[in-house]
Amino acid sequence: MTKNRIALALAAPFAAAVLALAGPAHAAETELKLEKVEIDLADLPRLQSGARTFVNYCLGCHGAELVRYNTLVQLGLTEQQVKDNLMFTAEKIGGYMRTAMRPADGKEWFGVAPPDLSVIARARGADWLYTYLRGFYRDPSTVTGWNNTVFPTVAMPNVFEHLQGDRVRKEEPVMRDGKEVGDGHGGVLTRVTFETIRPGSQTPVEFDRTVRDLVNFLVWMGEPVQDQRKQIGFFALLAIGVLIVLSYLLYKEYWKDVH
Ligand code: HEC
Repeated sequence: MTKNRIALALAAPFAAAVLALAGPAHAAETELKLEKVEIDLADLPRLQSGARTFVNYCLGCHGAELVRYNTLVQLGLTEQQVKDNLMFTAEKIGGYMRTAMRPADGKEWFGVAPPDLSVIARARGADWLYTYLRGFYRDPSTVTGWNNTVFPTVAMPNVFEHLQGDRVRKEEPVMRDGKEVGDGHGGVLTRVTFETIRPGSQTPVEFDRTVRDLVNFLVWMGEPVQDQRKQIGFFALLAIGVLIVLSYLLYKEYWKDVH
């Protein structure tokens, strides 16, 4: 009984913390509408364009440390093209795609170290990434001056501000017959819109394409890693199988004389 009580006393704050964490996240989740992106892992020009965007705009802060530069030849490039166009630091072609930023610096500058993106598409899904990367808007109340539709108060700034331009979020009451409409909970129903206050160097259609190609690349990047993992899994099972057989034989050998 007392043991149960102790367990309960220990578990209660933990459960409360979990609920506290889950609560707001859940609220945000229900608001979240993901935009669909079409992925085509056989479209080499799109993957090349995505790889270019990745090394130019992301690698400064994020690594892809499970991916070697020379796997990029699978995108239809020669090793020389990879070296000339996609490698900026004096690294080896067989080296992993590391970020130049040290995790400690990232933590100091942004409050959180930018995570490795090797398998981010598996963790978040393509539609989430597509919505996230196009979802930045100006918000003077945050540390970076940016906010995001699917990642509220994210520590990452909008790295595409020159391409996308600046947007602000507007929340207006929904009007019907010249009157505000109630939301059924004593408040008023609102509609959220985004207004461009400064256009970027790309049109919205071009920008969507840039991000689509990038997400295509991020999805592709997770795939070879998956193949590797499958191979490792296979050899691990094989090794276990061999061990089981050996230990069985050993067992027989030991007990042979006893009977
Ligand atoms: C100036 C540094 C910087 C650059 C450049 C940058 N990011 Fe980030 N990114 C961050 C930081 C910091 C976070 C952590 C945000 C947080 O947890 O609040 C982050 C978070 C993310 C996340 C969310 C990870 C998760 O699931 O928690 C994704 C996805 C992402 N970045 C993708 C990208 C992509 C793609 C690019 C290139 C277009 C890019 N980032 C460029 C700093 C950067």
